[in-house]
Amino acid sequence: MDATEIKQRVGYEAVDRTVRSGMKLGLGTGSTAVHAVRRVAELMERGTLTDILAVPTSFGTRIECQRLGIPLRDLNDPDIDGHLDLSIDGSDEVDPDRYLTKGGGGALLIEKLVEYNSDRLVVIVDESKMVSRLGERYPIPLEVVPAARRTLEKAVVRFGARPELRMAVKKSGPVYTDQGNVILDLYFNEAFDPVELERELNLFPGAVENGIFTKVRPMVIIGHSDGRIETLE
Ligand code: 5RP
Repeated sequence: MDATEIKQRVGYEAVDRTVRSGMKLGLGTGSTAVHAVRRVAELMERGTLTDILAVPTSFGTRIECQRLGIPLRDLNDPDIDGHLDLSIDGSDEVDPDRYLTKGGGGALLIEKLVEYNSDRLVVIVDESKMVSRLGERYPIPLEVVPAARRTLEKAVVRFGARPELRMAVKKSGPVYTDQGNVILDLYFNEAFDPVELERELNLFPGAVENGIFTKVRPMVIIGHSDGRIETLE
């Protein structure tokens, strides 16, 4: 199976196995999560799923949901009341403790807000996302207010991180998140304690959120290139 087929397979699998009518759903961001979004829409159109309300984790996911006619809410809306039944999302890395890094698509802040406030999180990945330690292949994103960029670039060095301001591809200058912040991608040569680093990074003034997720134990659905689907929970 090629990469897109694997992403579609795990996206469909997650929805078919876990989404039920009447659920309040958090919908993730990225090239894998989009397949779960499309599956929800498909099952709603067939009438298999009814009374779904969804909270998107990014502007991009909001646009896709609107295109597909999935009813949207904010976490603050009274019929969501700050709490969801289930969220489905991709991940950049998953370690053996099922700790995650997210934010490759820059949506880490709302992803964490939505997913830490869901009864259950289902993470959908291909096998390349499984690592022995976080930071092995992808940097750890740290979303910061623009005014704090330089102080935080200096501050994170004490954790052994090499920070790089994330730059835009089809625009000159940095990436600005949906919330108008910038992202420092933190590269680590050595293993770190994910629980401690998730907490410590957010303590600096101007740090908004980081992409380490240790406070949820997700169900992880892994797609393999030979067509196998593996589940960790
Ligand atoms: C976006 C994310 C994504 O879920 C993560 O980057 C994985 O994306 P993809 O499925 O495209 O590899 O955290 O902020």
